[in-house]
Amino acid sequence: MAERFDAVDVIRAKRDHGELSTPEIDWLVDAYTRGYVADEQMSAWAMAVLLNGMSRREIRDLTLAMIASGERMSFASLGKPTVDKHSTGGVGDKITLPLVPLVASFGVAVPQLSGRGLGHTGGTLDKLESISGWRASLTADELFAQLRDVGGAICAAGPGLAPADKKLYALRDITGTVEAIPLIASSIMSKKIAEGTSALVLDVKFGSGAFMRDLDKARELARTMVDLGQDAGVATSALLTDMNAPLGRAIGNANEVRESVEVLAGGGPADIVELTVALAREMLRLVGQPDADVEEALRSGRAMDSWRSLIRAQDGDPDAPLPHPRETHTVTAPRSGVVSRQDALAFGVAAWRLGAGRARQQDPVLHAAGIDLHAKVGESVAEGDPLFTLSTDDPVRFERALDSLVGAWDIADAAPPRAGLVVERIG
Ligand code: URA
Repeated sequence: MAERFDAVDVIRAKRDHGELSTPEIDWLVDAYTRGYVADEQMSAWAMAVLLNGMSRREIRDLTLAMIASGERMSFASLGKPTVDKHSTGGVGDKITLPLVPLVASFGVAVPQLSGRGLGHTGGTLDKLESISGWRASLTADELFAQLRDVGGAICAAGPGLAPADKKLYALRDITGTVEAIPLIASSIMSKKIAEGTSALVLDVKFGSGAFMRDLDKARELARTMVDLGQDAGVATSALLTDMNAPLGRAIGNANEVRESVEVLAGGGPADIVELTVALAREMLRLVGQPDADVEEALRSGRAMDSWRSLIRAQDGDPDAPLPHPRETHTVTAPRSGVVSRQDALAFGVAAWRLGAGRARQQDPVLHAAGIDLHAKVGESVAEGDPLFTLSTDDPVRFERALDSLVGAWDIADAAPPRAGLVVERIG
């Protein structure tokens, strides 16, 4: 069968700042998924998009074409609203763990299809797999039943959702084209829209540990994704949140689960509670519960009950001891003062080098590896106090982890000004 368009014409049009038609975009995505358009051609096109951008209409068409490349789920017959959250990824970002059971405890279904970590940002599934027996894969029927009976589910996205994105994302990863806002937005939103949620809150991060270093770029990404969601009939909003310092005190896998359970027990670090509560309020606002008392659900143990049900429903034992590291190394304060800076990227890279993350998709992670911060930015220390502890099973990893922390933190005479984590809401 003759092809409708020529790949080189489509690449040239984008290279020369042209706007592609809807049929051209539909064809490109379909022909690439079928293998007719070659990786070399799609790479050239992705680079042209990175350099020259896409119009709102083109981004919407690209997103719809990627959705059409796979299956589309629907939770309409559940009989309750569905709401999901997506974070663009950060260091110590375990918010999904307390957030999903917290929101589910309000009678809302939360289908959280998550990924594994690659590079310095950890993956939610890797963290939860620290829990003995816990299973990331659910069939569509199991997911549906869990949303009906338990309310929240955190599981791996099946291969059927937006397969065109899977292929294009892997290509972007090795061709320097990940950072294009139209491609990031369409990639994330094609999966979220195909997943069938009726509402979505995006946690778009800016700062050293985030994808987008500066606030303006993060705002542009958030606006683009919110428009895509709303155009597709999904109630969507975004919070722009600060990712310059690690979130919470734990960076890793098992230690992040431990910290999440502390939050569900009504305690935990103030920044994790702040962000969990802000995102939960926003999710519940989108599904018609603007006055939900989320703090009460944490205090009363209702969110914890919901967590325990979620873990058990996926064959995990919420009471099983979490893995402990074989080796630890603690760094102490060289002087008295106030911790004034902890660079999120450096701490993320250090945790990754300790084994908490993976370099290649197929690598395993060390569940007990990571970093625990004894003092966070703004907290006082005396000379000799422990600042942070590195953990791993394999002590040869300490040297490279410590290398990445050189110059990554400061102790000053006075605390830096305290700013809130959530700087803006878009939606
Ligand atoms: N996450 C995605 O799913 N896609 C991107 O392009 C970037 C982050």
